[in-house]
Amino acid sequence: MNIIDQIIFNYSNNKSLYIGEKVTMSEHMIQTAMLAEKTNCSSNLVCSSLLHDYGHFILENPDHLVAKDKDGKHEDVGYSYLEKYFIKDVLGPIKYHVKAKKYLAREKKYYELLSEASKVSLKLQGGVMSNEEAKKFERNKFFENSIKLRKFDEIAKKSDLKIKSINDYKNLLISKLI
Ligand SMILES: [Fe+2]
Repeated sequence: MNIIDQIIFNYSNNKSLYIGEKVTMSEHMIQTAMLAEKTNCSSNLVCSSLLHDYGHFILENPDHLVAKDKDGKHEDVGYSYLEKYFIKDVLGPIKYHVKAKKYLAREKKYYELLSEASKVSLKLQGGVMSNEEAKKFERNKFFENSIKLRKFDEIAKKSDLKIKSINDYKNLLISKLI
């Protein structure tokens, strides 16, 4: 199976719930992409948003990891897997979206907005970022897009939304292959 068919197969068949939330992992990622589209983000960022949690399809059941107090590093797992197929501008925000969460959570207001599940995973991900690390992250080429992605990520958990099909993104996915 080629990578595009593999992705479409996974989104269509994986019904696991997004950790601690009411939507499936696939619905969550599609909603994230829809938010990027709605705010007129670049097609690269729409594609990053669509694929940002792909690592969860590869990892062992994320609920089990959380139960064992483990962080599966899904951002790195997804990045390493997708790196063989997609362009760098799509991959960057995928790799850094957890860093963006750690960065944003420095603000008390943002931290309080996080869902309970998100607060639990933040802890497993090493907690809030230090000021030194934050300064370094601000210089990262993918800083802005990673922050945008992470903001969409946090709100893409609505269970009553009409969402697109993964097939609607087939051409976009094809256009971002190496
Ligand atoms: Fe996510």
